[in-house]
Amino acid sequence: MSSMHHKPTGGNPSRVQFNTRLGVIATTVGSAVGLGNIWRFPYEAGMHGGGAFMLVYLGFIIVIGIPVITAEFIIGRHSGANVYGAFKRLHGSPCWRVVGAIGIVASLMILSFYSVVAGWTADYIVRSVQNFSGAYTQEALHSQFGEFTASWSAVGWTVVFLLANFWILKRGVQKGIEKMSNIMMPALFVLLIVFCINSLLMPGAAEGLRFLFNPDFSKVDSSVMLGAMGQAFFSLSLGLGCLITYASYFSRRTDLVRTAATTASLDTLVAVLAGVMIFPAVFTFSQSPAEGPKLVFEVLPAIFYNMQFGMVWSTLFFVLLFLASLTSTISMSEISIAYFCEERKMSRTVATVLNTVIAITFGSLCSLSFGPLADMTVFGMTMFELFDFVSSNVLLPIGGMLISVFVGWVLSRSVIDDEVGGQGSVRRWLVSLLVICLRYVAPVCILLVFLGGIGLFD
Ligand code: PHE
Repeated sequence: MSSMHHKPTGGNPSRVQFNTRLGVIATTVGSAVGLGNIWRFPYEAGMHGGGAFMLVYLGFIIVIGIPVITAEFIIGRHSGANVYGAFKRLHGSPCWRVVGAIGIVASLMILSFYSVVAGWTADYIVRSVQNFSGAYTQEALHSQFGEFTASWSAVGWTVVFLLANFWILKRGVQKGIEKMSNIMMPALFVLLIVFCINSLLMPGAAEGLRFLFNPDFSKVDSSVMLGAMGQAFFSLSLGLGCLITYASYFSRRTDLVRTAATTASLDTLVAVLAGVMIFPAVFTFSQSPAEGPKLVFEVLPAIFYNMQFGMVWSTLFFVLLFLASLTSTISMSEISIAYFCEERKMSRTVATVLNTVIAITFGSLCSLSFGPLADMTVFGMTMFELFDFVSSNVLLPIGGMLISVFVGWVLSRSVIDDEVGGQGSVRRWLVSLLVICLRYVAPVCILLVFLGGIGLFD
């Protein structure tokens, strides 16, 4: 197995593989689509001026997102290993394993704060069923949510969510994830369309759409650029080896370029739909778009309240959002679990327990940073904000840049051709374009945005 990369065909036939083409797409999209699209995208866009953010975001998805997804797929399928093991197999020098280390640390950090928000979602399922106790004015929703996120019951929900995550992971890669994603993703998509139509009929629709789609270039500064890049990485599950790990389970029949393009398109579509659903409501109910992490949770109940059968829609939506979060956390957990099993020789059960214990510990601290630990700050950020910032805006871009350089400059061209090449001039042209992106465009872009974002050019 250690000589995997000498085989011209690459891959690792002894590993479990996904069953069907739909399974591959659904799981990859299942990882990408989650709170990143529905919770994080609207709040980041809201904080960074709307249209300006959106345009920069879309640019990054195209010039960085799609090429780097493909790069992760190439590394994953060719090595047939976890993030750390992949670099060990593909390159003799231990230096590249740092990418694996970054990925494992980033995945555990994201899992920790992500589970807090997923826990809020779980609580909102219960609140939906109780019709939000009739509290539908913005002030009431505001104070209700503030009290809840500051309480120990929010910590409880974080733990509940992580236990659900644990339970699914114990059932293995194929069965749990594949089955769930196949049904759930399309359902969530349909529901989003219904809510978008509903929002477009609101009085604030024009203002909301203008905010989201009308770029004000004077607002594009280095913090908007870094925010948009971090969001692109976060939303695509990119830069931490999640897609390396998943691609190690792909069969030779999967078309990596097509899968990358499909994943990026569907993920972006869901984020845009979430924006179209949220912003008209934000302006209709006179909310501030720049409210931050609480934005979506305070606006959504008001949307549902104004719909017929609001309680049913609301419950359905939060159940699906909860499940979409699970398919994402399963994929981020798989990064460290595959590493613990394959490199540290733990049993799957021990590895899964370890992953869950780490996430419960740090997740609880992140949750408490909305209440008792609100004053515990580093660089002016609470634990939750710090985990989010360091993982999304620092670790993922650095990981993505190294992955891009690795495939562009270090991995031999024959491996790339073998994984993504094919017949026909269009395909040859695409592969050349990919290589140019990975060698020059993506790494330079990431580096400049990153250095700008940390204030080097100010
Ligand atoms: N992309 C996921 C989302 O948008 C989050 C995620 C990040 C999943 C990193 C895996 C790895 O919700």
